[in-house]
This record gives sequence, structure tokens and C-alpha cells, in this order.
Amino acid sequence: EKGGYDSFMLKEIHEQPQAVRETMGARIDLEQKRVILPELKMSDAELAKYDRIYIVACGTSMHAGLVGKDVIEKWTRVPVEVAVASEFRYRDPIYTDNTLMIVISQSGETADTLAALREAKKTNVKVMAITNVVGSSVAREADEVLFTWAGPEVAVASTKAYTSQVVTLYLFSLYLAQVKGTLKAAEVAEVVDHLQDIPAKITSLLEDAEQVRHFAESTKGVNSLFFIGRSLDYAVSLEGSLKLKEISYIHSEAYPAGELKHGTLALIEDNVPVVALATQPDIYEKMVSNIVEVKARGARVLGFAMEGNTDLAKSVDEVIYLPTTLPMLAPILTVIPLQLLSYFASVARGLDVDKPRNLAKSVTVE
Ligand code: M6R
Repeated sequence: EKGGYDSFMLKEIHEQPQAVRETMGARIDLEQKRVILPELKMSDAELAKYDRIYIVACGTSMHAGLVGKDVIEKWTRVPVEVAVASEFRYRDPIYTDNTLMIVISQSGETADTLAALREAKKTNVKVMAITNVVGSSVAREADEVLFTWAGPEVAVASTKAYTSQVVTLYLFSLYLAQVKGTLKAAEVAEVVDHLQDIPAKITSLLEDAEQVRHFAESTKGVNSLFFIGRSLDYAVSLEGSLKLKEISYIHSEAYPAGELKHGTLALIEDNVPVVALATQPDIYEKMVSNIVEVKARGARVLGFAMEGNTDLAKSVDEVIYLPTTLPMLAPILTVIPLQLLSYFASVARGLDVDKPRNLAKSVTVE
């Protein structure tokens, strides 16, 4: 049942090219190079009126939501707030007639996410779910559902659910941009072209895991590890850090790189590993300055850059190069070596990758 892999997590990591292909499936019109979402019950006119979005979820699904926020705001100019469900359910959210709520849940059964959805349903706000499980509570109770079609995810650590949620959010953002007219047809077509190349790029990252394995093994005696990044790279850092904590029990923090010097930099000393994500061209120089700051305090830095950006090698100890894609799509590639990093770190420590202590796959109690 593990398909020849030693754990469900590794199997599911390797299923991502296919999972992402399934997510895109019939939702991309290859001739017109645009997105179609036939499953939406609401009209395009209704969708176009939404001018405010809340994204509510827990854990890894919330991290997918953070990527979604930046993408939706960039492509549609609709302001998005992302909230963890356990907080949101007890808030007094400001809903207007034009507010859309998106809940994201792989299982569709997470107690806090479901409660947040039910609270919202007591008002008139429209709720759209992004979930992997057909027939789940979230799928049944939301007004609209976009299924991620990633296939069953068994390992506690979520991997293919995240990438398929992120792809679903790209598709939704493009569709919203089409409906609102905030992207030109040629711009949508360009993203669609790049999206279609993503599965093959994930495959190439999976085939080339030696460097990340080596880095993970070198963290064996390490107590603490930091992830730094800006904008979308920060959103992915949070996911890399959660994954590492969850299955390798190494303390780690994800930090917006520019915020380090407001306190956390005090923790950087000789040989502290820092994973520095530098995939975003508009803030690349700023990232390099932050890397120089941690290097000056003795950090051992694993950098991530887009292929061709060999310049980063001068500032870090090692670099992982990602196949080039549009900056907005980088998260879906960046996360792959980060998943592998946590997997290899867990294996190196002799831990049970699929069943981390204290955690359950589906958190159905508050
Ligand atoms: O099923 P859900 O997407 O609602 O689950 C949310 C979180 O419990 C889940 O993503 C959790 O953070 C994972 N174990 C992370 O790998």
C-alpha cells in the first residue's frame, strides 16, 4: 500500500506531479488558455462582485491560504485576510454583502475549520470550500466547493494536499481575474502555460534530492533551525518550518527576513542552520543583505534560488536551484525540497515519519 516507498509521506511527496495534474485537470481550457470552473454554482456576475475575502484554515492548509492571499491580491486586487480557524471562530468578523469566505481543509473534518464555517453560515456570507475529501462535512456544508483531487493523503504530515491546494488557489485566482477583468487574456495565458510545466518541474526536483538529503543529515545534532524569506518565500518558509517541527522534532522558526534584526537575530550563532529562500526577483537584493547578516553571525546557510541565479552561491554555503518559473508560481516548487528536508531529517533521527508524536491526521476535536 506504500507503493514501494518506506513511508506514506515519501509516497505522497512523490505523488505530487500527478496530484497537481489532477487538480488542474479539466479546469484548464487548453485551446483558449484560460481557466474554467464548471463546478461553481454561482454566476460570474455574482463572483465578480466580491471585493473582500477571508481565508480560514489550520496548519498546512492555512499556509496554502497565505500563498493564496498574495496571489489573489496580485492578480485581482481584492484584499484578502488569512486567519487560523481556532482564532477566527471566536472573532466577530466584518462581513459585508460583498465578502467571500474561503475555508481550506484537506480532510474537510477539522473541528475548528468546520466551526468557523458554521459560524459564518449563521450570517449570509457566502462560503467556498477547498477540500480533498468528497462527502466531507466541509464539502457538504459550504455553499461552493472546489475539490483538490489530490487522492487520499494518509501521512500525518501534509504534502500533496498543500501543493494541490495551492494550485486550486492559482486556478481560482485566475478565474476571478478573468471574471473581474483584472488580468489580460495574454497574462492569463502566460500563467496557464507555466502552470502546465509545473508537474515536470516537481518531478525534476524529486529526482535531484541528494543535496537536500545531505543537508538534512547534517542537522542531526542540531537543536534549532531557521527559515527566512520575504513575501511568498516567507509564506513557504512557514510551511517548511512546520513540516520540520512536526516530523523531526527540531525546533525551528520561520521569519520574515527583514524582521530578524528586531530580535530573533540574537539567536543566530556559529553553525546554526538557516534555510534562506530567495526566489522572488523584486526583493532579491534585500534577501541577500539579510543572508549576509546571518552569515556574519556564523550561520550555515542553505540558499534557494531560481536556476541561473548562480550569484547567490557567493553569499551562502550551499544553494538549491529551482527550475525557473513565474515568481508567483515559485512556492509550489520551493516547498518540494523543504518537504524532503523534513523527511530526511526525520529519517536521520530514526523517527516514525508517518506517525509523529502527539499528532493526529485529522483534528476533529477542538
Ligand atoms: O485536514 P486539514 O487540512 O483541515 O488539516 C489542517 C491541519 O491539521 C494540517 O494541515 C496539519 O497542520 C498537518 N499535520 C501539517 O502537516
